[in-house]
Amino acid sequence: MVTTRGTEDIEGIGSGVGRTALMVAAARAIEATRPDSLVRDGFARHFVRAARASGEWPVHWHDVPGGAANPLWGRLGRYFGLRTRVLDDFLLGAVRAGAGQVVLLGAGLDSRAFRLAWPAGCPVFELDRPDVLAFKRQVLDELGATATAARTTVAVDLCEDWAGPLRDAGFDPDVPTAWLAEGLLLYLPAVAERRLVSTVDRLAAPGSCLAFEVKLGVEHPGGPIYRSAKDQIGVDLTALFDAEPRPDSAGALRARGWETSVRTPFDFAAEHDADLVPEHQDALASNRWTFAGKPVRR
Ligand SMILES: C[S@@+](CC[C@H](N)C(=O)[O-])C[C@H]1O[C@@H](n2cnc3c(N)ncnc32)[C@H](O)[C@@H]1O
Repeated sequence: MVTTRGTEDIEGIGSGVGRTALMVAAARAIEATRPDSLVRDGFARHFVRAARASGEWPVHWHDVPGGAANPLWGRLGRYFGLRTRVLDDFLLGAVRAGAGQVVLLGAGLDSRAFRLAWPAGCPVFELDRPDVLAFKRQVLDELGATATAARTTVAVDLCEDWAGPLRDAGFDPDVPTAWLAEGLLLYLPAVAERRLVSTVDRLAAPGSCLAFEVKLGVEHPGGPIYRSAKDQIGVDLTALFDAEPRPDSAGALRARGWETSVRTPFDFAAEHDADLVPEHQDALASNRWTFAGKPVRR
């Protein structure tokens, strides 16, 4: 277990949208200990325990009050476990199909560069805010973690220009790339989401692919998941989500010649036997996962 003094003092990871990265890490830690686990992330609990903000949160399925009936760790947590698994499969499928590099936008405490079986030397770029990446580095350094990919972190504000820093970090726009924006676009202003999609299109060689998660509309804060996140860990998700009408990013990609498939998490829950079905006032009802590919020109 990580015990670094000072790790938890890095400003940002414990507050605002940085705290959501800890929330997803806690969900992955718990997921790893479920008897029907979809993902084994051995790093997640160390992140959770290293930050003061999350030091008391559960990291084991046995410690979740109410188990599957707990709206935060039982239901939203299961959603994060399923999302991680589906997007693990997406990224590994993409590199097997020929993508030569991977870009994780809003990587947070995602440990894919350490836990997935990448082809030797596969470049994986992680983009997030400097404070989140600094916290992540301290925890991983103390663990002595070894990446399974050629990992590079790029500290940026994704609302500003990030294409320049990514290229400076070694990203090659001529190489087909697997892109991921997981749990990110919900927090960005609409103008930043539009710019991000157009930047990905500009940097993506033919044969590239992109997966991203959106919410279709503005959320109602009264549902069990949102109340539970606020009550159990002090995270007011609906206050963190950007309140503007959301852009149609799948449509924007189609207009640029990409092929897209838009799915609900419930589609994948059925495929993975993940006991996640729609319910009343469901915070998951408007979530969509888009899988997009930029065709190779013939
Ligand atoms: C909910 S977390 C998801 C992290 C990760 N993709 C996962 O699923 O574990 C959202 C992440 O987006 C990052 N983020 C949000 N807005 C950002 C911005 N403007 N620039 C860079 N990163 C941002 C946060 O710092 C946080 O790490």
